[in-house]
Amino acid sequence: MNRKISERIRYVGVNDHHKVIFEGMWPLPFGVSYNSYLVVDDKVALIDTAEADFSREFLSNIREEIGDRKVDYLIVNHMEPDHSSLMKDIREQYPEIRIVTNAKAVPMIKGYYGITDNIHVIKEGDTLDLGSSVLSFHLAPMVHWPETMVTYLTEEKTLFSGDAFGTFGAVDGEITDDGAHLCGWLDKAENCFEEFKDEMTRYYSNIVGKYGQTVQAALKKLSSLEIGRICSTHGPVWQKHIPEVVSFYDRLSRYEGGRGVCIAYASMYGNTAKAAKSLAAELAARGIPYTLHNLCTENVSYAYRDAFKYDTVAIGAPTYNNDIFPPAYNFMYGLCARLLKNRRFFAFGSYTWAGASVRLLNEMAQKQGFELISEGISFPQGFTQEKCDMGRIAELMSR
Ligand SMILES: Cc1cc2nc3c(=O)[nH]c(=O)nc-3n(C[C@H](O)[C@H](O)[C@H](O)COP(=O)(O)O)c2cc1C
Ligand SMILES: [Fe+2]
Ligand SMILES: [Fe+2]
Repeated sequence: MNRKISERIRYVGVNDHHKVIFEGMWPLPFGVSYNSYLVVDDKVALIDTAEADFSREFLSNIREEIGDRKVDYLIVNHMEPDHSSLMKDIREQYPEIRIVTNAKAVPMIKGYYGITDNIHVIKEGDTLDLGSSVLSFHLAPMVHWPETMVTYLTEEKTLFSGDAFGTFGAVDGEITDDGAHLCGWLDKAENCFEEFKDEMTRYYSNIVGKYGQTVQAALKKLSSLEIGRICSTHGPVWQKHIPEVVSFYDRLSRYEGGRGVCIAYASMYGNTAKAAKSLAAELAARGIPYTLHNLCTENVSYAYRDAFKYDTVAIGAPTYNNDIFPPAYNFMYGLCARLLKNRRFFAFGSYTWAGASVRLLNEMAQKQGFELISEGISFPQGFTQEKCDMGRIAELMSR
């Protein structure tokens, strides 16, 4: 892999193809990268580290780039352990290294790693001179942790953005978006941005989704910087597709969905499932984009992705103990917890003696400010076209 992003900036991150589930919840069908960068000048700065399992590879990547030179600074943009875990290893290797971060990270560094010395605390807008290049620091609280900050290298118009603009998907082979390729994807998409877009939506909706407002604040703050390159902590280095990536992130954090329907259902005996499939068929007949997710068998990660991607959400849930069948409740709860907005909503589901799930889903949706496209369809026992006219619903969705 060519680690040289420029004469000054070297990629020293690693690709993880072992981890099956990220953060204990999110599947990684295409792996994930933990990106870390060196800025090499009179002084050498390392920006973030990597996940705990990759110590040897990470240290050897650094050595490959700078040989026996020492690393003078470790810039800590984000304390989540996927980026901070190798802090102790780095200090062992480079005992004089000075950690540079903001005040909110200090107790976290102590709490996770017991490190209290040789930490330089910066404030908003502070700079660090490396010789012929200067790093500046900009706080981006709650994108998606409180200590989150980004680092800007003026001489290269480069933003080290932490998790912002990050995506699932490993980037072996080529790290920049001129050629980066989503590993495991069958065929190459039109371009790198198109290829990573869905995995970026999944990363955003799963992990950052709740923080639309603080992401918007960060985007506004960063708009004064001239950005020619984005080095995030996951996925490709963006330099060719910056306008697309920034506007995509802007849309995601404004909770703007494109035309289409995310159908997510849970079903014990297949009746609610039949209704879900009937809706899918009626949408297909009308040329309306949709995806169909079985919440009982599929990780909820993908349904979150499509609830963020599309402007309409349809949830199917049978009634269960006078309540919403748990896998569907879990999904709906997750949408609400992510403060999802601006959605049209439709609930449906089977019951046997007294339906409750549709009413309860509608109540949650209304509280969330979703627009109900109909009163929902709660039907007794088996699915039939007569009880559950999804043609009418697809018609309403086509408007
Ligand atoms: C543990 C359990 C609890 C249920 N609780 C209710 C209930 O409170 N009210 C009701 O009308 N039906 C209840 N049902 C019946 C289901 O809602 C009914 O079987 C429905 O048709 C299942 O839809 P499905 O085929 O999509 O799984 C319950 C079923 C089970 C297994
Ligand atoms: Fe993070
Ligand atoms: Fe991360």
